[in-house]
Amino acid sequence: MRILAIESSCDETAAAVVEDGRRVLSSVVASQVEEHRLYGGVVPEIASRRHAEAITPVVDQALKQAELSLDQIDAVAVTYAPGLIGALLVGVNFAKGLALSTGLPLIPTHHLRSHIASNYISNQELKPPFLCLVVSGGHSHIVMVEDYTRMKIIGRTRDDAAGEAFDKAARTMGMPYPGGIELDKVAEDGDPFAFKLPRPVVSDAPYDFSFSGLKTAVINLLHNSAQKGVELNKADVCASFRYAVVDCLVTNFLKAAEDLGVKRLVIAGGVSANSLLRKTLAEECDKRGYEFYMPDKSLCGDNAAMVGSQAYYEFLSGNTAGLDLNACATMSIE
Ligand code: KG4
Ligand code: ZN
Repeated sequence: MRILAIESSCDETAAAVVEDGRRVLSSVVASQVEEHRLYGGVVPEIASRRHAEAITPVVDQALKQAELSLDQIDAVAVTYAPGLIGALLVGVNFAKGLALSTGLPLIPTHHLRSHIASNYISNQELKPPFLCLVVSGGHSHIVMVEDYTRMKIIGRTRDDAAGEAFDKAARTMGMPYPGGIELDKVAEDGDPFAFKLPRPVVSDAPYDFSFSGLKTAVINLLHNSAQKGVELNKADVCASFRYAVVDCLVTNFLKAAEDLGVKRLVIAGGVSANSLLRKTLAEECDKRGYEFYMPDKSLCGDNAAMVGSQAYYEFLSGNTAGLDLNACATMSIE
């Protein structure tokens, strides 16, 4: 089954053709990040307008790259939640138009479920059940993936998402949006023990995260030293902050796995590209004899190949939508 998938939940307009959930025939991503960088973050109004301009050529290119025409496609899939509402609506309406004009089934796909599915492309042997750490710019969840379309949230952030904390810390150090990627690179040359930063815990909720206090701690460290005219070693600050965030993520994730008795662990979302997170979890899982899977770095950020993968399993479980499909800014992964 060949699915034409569309993604427009944030600042990437993407389209892909995926066969049977696992084989990517094409994947096109048009990023708007350069324009949003001027403002230090995503401007929703600009995002919607850029999606409206890009969506037709991006879908066209995805079909051309796959060397297929619309009559060789079996279904249209689209991200309908969660995300920026104006951005999601562009993809949803485009997909509805395609479904209406071709008579193809329409498959609504949840953005975070798609991030998890990026692993089905990178790890062809991977099948549920597994425990997944989903870490993106807007979400930080520990999810029990019982089956391809049956999920249970085990833990979540109470305030900032991990990606958001990375981006805000990076911005304070003058790095361009989205700073998480650069912070990760700069941290490679720093000492993770140079600065002592807190590891906030949520009382009575051992699997939940809280990154706002940690973010404030690093921002205060930077501001206080600037006021005193002391220059801190940027690589050391990045390394100490990255170590603190990864420590919080890994500690709770491994505790959840141990308590639930799950021995197959997976990571997903933009922050799953983080080098220290990948390295630490690979080592810890190896020590414990757990299986560990992660997406290729190229599939960690937003793309439509992951949407085409998840959509296949949504279709198999009977999840299709009518032409009254709407977009939702928030929606639980469950
Ligand atoms: O999943 P994603 O592309 O978009 C959302 O669905 O939110 O995640 C984007 C987030 C940004 O906050 C970005 O800074 C972060 O992922 N990110 C990273 C790295 N690469 C991307 N954070 C830390 N280290 C990285 N290497
Ligand atoms: Zn995403």
